[in-house]
Amino acid sequence: MIPKQTIDEIFDAAIIEEVVGEFVQLKKRGANYLGNCPFHNEKTPSFTVSPAKGIYKCFGCGKAGNSVNFIMEHEHYSYPEALKFLANKFNIEVDEEEQSDEQKEAANERESLYIVSNYAANYFKKQLHESDEGKAIGLSYFLERGFREDIIEKFQLGYNPNEWTAFTDAAEKEGYQLKYLDKSGLTIVKESKKFDRFKGRVMFPIHNLSGRVLGFGGRILKTEDKAAKYVNSPESEIYNKSKVLYGIYYAKKMITQDNNCYLVEGYTDVISLYQAGVENVVSSSGTSLTEGQIRLIKRFTPNITILYDGDAAGLKASFRGIDMILKEGMNVRVVLFPEGEDPDSYAKNHTTEELKGYITDNAQDFIRFKTSVLIKEVGDDPIKKAELIKEIVESIAIIPDQIKRSVYTQECSTLLDISEQALINETNKILRKNVSKKTNAQVPTEEFPDFYDIDGPQEEQAEQGTDLAHWENDVIRLLITYGDKQIEVDAIDPETQEPFLQEVAVAFFIISSISNDNIVFENAKYQEILSIYSEHLNEEKLPNHQDFVNHHNPAISKVVIDVLSDKYDLSPNWATHKIFVTTEEELLKKAVVNTLFAFKLSKLNKRITQNQDQLKTADSDKQMELLKEQVNLQQLKKQLAEKLGRIILK
Ligand code: CTP
Ligand code: MN
Repeated sequence: MIPKQTIDEIFDAAIIEEVVGEFVQLKKRGANYLGNCPFHNEKTPSFTVSPAKGIYKCFGCGKAGNSVNFIMEHEHYSYPEALKFLANKFNIEVDEEEQSDEQKEAANERESLYIVSNYAANYFKKQLHESDEGKAIGLSYFLERGFREDIIEKFQLGYNPNEWTAFTDAAEKEGYQLKYLDKSGLTIVKESKKFDRFKGRVMFPIHNLSGRVLGFGGRILKTEDKAAKYVNSPESEIYNKSKVLYGIYYAKKMITQDNNCYLVEGYTDVISLYQAGVENVVSSSGTSLTEGQIRLIKRFTPNITILYDGDAAGLKASFRGIDMILKEGMNVRVVLFPEGEDPDSYAKNHTTEELKGYITDNAQDFIRFKTSVLIKEVGDDPIKKAELIKEIVESIAIIPDQIKRSVYTQECSTLLDISEQALINETNKILRKNVSKKTNAQVPTEEFPDFYDIDGPQEEQAEQGTDLAHWENDVIRLLITYGDKQIEVDAIDPETQEPFLQEVAVAFFIISSISNDNIVFENAKYQEILSIYSEHLNEEKLPNHQDFVNHHNPAISKVVIDVLSDKYDLSPNWATHKIFVTTEEELLKKAVVNTLFAFKLSKLNKRITQNQDQLKTADSDKQMELLKEQVNLQQLKKQLAEKLGRIILK
């Protein structure tokens, strides 16, 4: 923990133009500085730094924040990491709590593993470029594969000689302890014997985000060998396979700029695509895709495009990966390469333009992809078609965001020629099942059968009413992300009592709807954000994201930064499908109304349950009171559906 006082000191010392100036070339323009935005590709500078306000803002991509935010965003640091970075830059001493002896030892051990791995990478590189064996076997192999010299250099490719202990001997001679050679997996130690794990293999070092070597993949060259084609480093203190992606160090910059990450199968695909000019490319190394790897990508972009070879057997297996990505709330697209080609071979046999063209022309969203794979088995069989629809709806139900779910439901409806309502019902069924599984609560339809009979905006609403924390978060997310967007709502003229259609900002709609019902959020951070919105709206203005980003309470600014960095654009990915863009506003209104509905329902249900619990132990006086309240609450619940579609304008 960094003490509060030190944090204040860091904020005071971190002069925005100096912080940004280290990474962006800035020119003075009046009171401000101007430069090319480091967060997106641009030719004319629209990235502004205001020394007076202590902030940066890009008028091209909208990114904005203070010094700490800049470092977090640019270096992909966590909040404490960014603070430490700035403390170091501005010579502020950070006294964190003393480390225990155990912590110190663990830190030393990790550092030793990094050092050994770095030595190994250099040794392998040297062997590849300088030894006769390395040149004749390793280097010539890479060159025959079509890897350019500069790329071989860049990815620090290497060679481990075809002797039992060449590397281990060299390392020990240099003073590296066998203990660490063993722990890093570079040397296999068995009883009194030891030998090189990667004997006679070309070497692919695996780097972490900041470019340090964590482990290796080694490929054998002689095909007649029974030995495995690839051998990978085992897990170690520094190498956690499920959290590492091969190529991320080289790809991260372009992933941010392109706002998309390509995912391929392995080392050679990454290198070939990079060489062909597609630099935002990574692969999982020697494991199937994990949640940790997806989250790593999510730090840079919400968009993943998976590149598959045309091998049909693997396609169905790919569905698992797709669902995992959807579950993280990310967008996933798929490119299938022609039969017999993988990204590596395609890149080798085509020009960069052809490769890039192929990728753009063939990228499908997951629904189209899944449909095109599964439809081949369906034919005219209605039962199989029903199964196909179910399969796809299951993926849709995984998506955490309701607006996105609606969009995909629409697409699925068009693509498979089935009514949207049927798909919505099916999705809601799955969602309800999942929620009751998760919270172990009763399925709401059973608990409150009458509720679903009420006419109102619930037709495609709110799958459930149990998970209050989830709905609070959803309300806040909509408020921050779409607060300034206009929607049309039914309003009632306070004088004539006549209904009319009124354009209002989403923020206004949400805040009025919540304050009309005197609802207080359980999450204190959210409640504070709501209060800030209320205060601003009282003065007829909307709070600036900036007010939150620079909020003195880091917990608040974190909530907002998280929401903003999770923000997905409704238009860019979907612009190609005109149908979606035109309905964007309609979707937003639905999402807002339905989310508020679900949130309030969930809140009410909680109060009803609490009331019922109290009833069990109450004395008779109190009981009457509670019963009255119970009737009241049930009444409210009935009214909720009718009321939510409208707001009373004061
Ligand atoms: N891979 C692996 N372990 C294996 C086979 C493959 O980890 N036993 C990974 C590697 O990362 C490899 C990628 O999958 O880069 C692609 O596999 P493959 O095409 O078989 O490997 P290449 O080295 O490209 O072999 P080839 O020259 O035969 O295409
Ligand atoms: Mn290959």
